[in-house]
Amino acid sequence: ADISFLDWPFLEPRHRDWAAEVEAWAAAHAEALSDEHDADASVIRLARAMGDAGLLRVPCPVDGVLDVRALCLARDILARHSGLADFAFAMQGLGTGPVTLFGTPAQRERLLPGARAGTALAAFALSEPEAGSDVSALALAATPDGNGHYRLNGDKTWISNGGIAASYVVFARTGEAPGAKGLSAFLVPAEAPGLAVAERIEVTAPHPLARLRFDDVRVAAEDLLGRPGEGFKVAMATLDVFRATVGAAALGFARRALDMTVAQASTRKIFGGTLFDQQMSQAAIADSAVDVEASALLVYRAAWLKDSGAARVTREASMAKLHATEAAQRCADRNVQIHGGLGVTRGHKAEELYREVRALRVYEGASEIQRVVIARAERDTRTP
Ligand code: CAA
Repeated sequence: ADISFLDWPFLEPRHRDWAAEVEAWAAAHAEALSDEHDADASVIRLARAMGDAGLLRVPCPVDGVLDVRALCLARDILARHSGLADFAFAMQGLGTGPVTLFGTPAQRERLLPGARAGTALAAFALSEPEAGSDVSALALAATPDGNGHYRLNGDKTWISNGGIAASYVVFARTGEAPGAKGLSAFLVPAEAPGLAVAERIEVTAPHPLARLRFDDVRVAAEDLLGRPGEGFKVAMATLDVFRATVGAAALGFARRALDMTVAQASTRKIFGGTLFDQQMSQAAIADSAVDVEASALLVYRAAWLKDSGAARVTREASMAKLHATEAAQRCADRNVQIHGGLGVTRGHKAEELYREVRALRVYEGASEIQRVVIARAERDTRTP
C-alpha cells in the first residue's frame, strides 16, 4: 500500500508507528472479521478484536486528549481494508467523544474502560425523525422530576450502533429556551427502563442502525454531560473532531477505489492491449489520484490544526469532510465504470464499495450542511 503521505510535515514520528500498527492489524484481521451480511455481529466482533489489540486506546484515550491525526490515520487505513472495521473503530470514538471532551472523571471512569476494551459499544444519539440537519429543532424532552432526575420522552433515529450499544449519549431539550440554547446531553445506559429499539434500519452500506424510543426514561442529574443548556455545544464540538475523521474514512475508501481501478485497467485486455492503453482510462486514474491527494491534504491539515490547539476548526473540518466524501463517491463511480458489467454486479467489490461510500455524504452533517458551515465562515472572516 502506498503510504508515502506518512512523510508529510503534518505528522509526528509517533503517527508513523501508529499507522504501521494499524496497517499490520488491518491486513491480518479487518476483512476476515467483516461480513457484510451480518453488520451487527461484525461490529461486535471487530470492536472486541480491536480492543484486545489495544487499538481503541486512540478513540477512547485515558488522558482525555483525542489525537485527531491518529484517529484520521486509523480511519484512512481501516476503511481501505474494510468499511465495517472503520465503522466499529469510529463509533467507539464518536459515541464516547462527548464524555472524553466534557465528562467528569467519574463519567469517564464509568464509560471509557469498557469502550476501550471493545466490550461495551458506544453510540451518539442526536438525530430525530423531525430534526436531522437542523439540530436546534430537536424535540426529545428531558423534564426534571424534582427528585434529582430527568424523564426522557421522544424518539431518536439513524442511530449508529443502535440496538447493540451498551450506552448512548442522548441530546435532549431540557429548557424552555428555544433552539440551540435549550439542549443538554445525557449519558444513558442501554438497559435503562423505558428505552427500546423501535425499529432496526437497513441502509445501502452494512451499518447497524436503529430508531430508539424513550418512554419516561429516568436519568440522574449526574448523568448530564456538561452543564444544562450546553448540549448544542457538546454536539458541535464533538462533530468538529469527528467530521475530519469521516473525511479520513472517505479517503481510505477512495484509495481502495483507485487501487482497484489501476489493477483492473492494467490487466483487462481490450483492443489488442490493456484498458490502461486507452487514454480515457488514464484520465479516470489521474482524476481519482488527484481526488485522493486533495482529500488527504484537507483531512490531515484539519487534523493537524486541531491537534495544534486551534480553538475552532469547524471550517477546516467541514472542508475536509465535504471534499473527501464527494471525491470518494467520484472515485468509486469511476471504479465501477472501469469495471464495466462487473462493476454493477451485486456482490462485486466495486459494487460493494459504490454502496459503502454513499452514506458518508449524508451522515455527520450532509454535504449541504458542510457548505452552509463553510459559507458562514467565509462571510464571517471576509465581511468587514
Ligand atoms: N463549536 C462550538 N459552538 C458552536 C459550533 C461549533 N462547531 N457551531 C455553532 N456553535 C454555536 C454558535 O456560535 C451559536 O452560539 P451563540 O448563539 O452563542 O452565537 C450556537 O452554537 C448556535 O449556532 P448556529 O446559529 O450556527 O446554529 P444553527 O441552528 O444555524 O445550526 C448547523 C448550525 C451547522 C446547521 C448545525 O445544526 C449542524 O451542524 N447540523 C448538522 C447536524 C449533524 O451533523 N448531524 C449529524 C448527526 S450525528 C451522525 O450522523 C453520527 C452517525 O450516526 C454516523
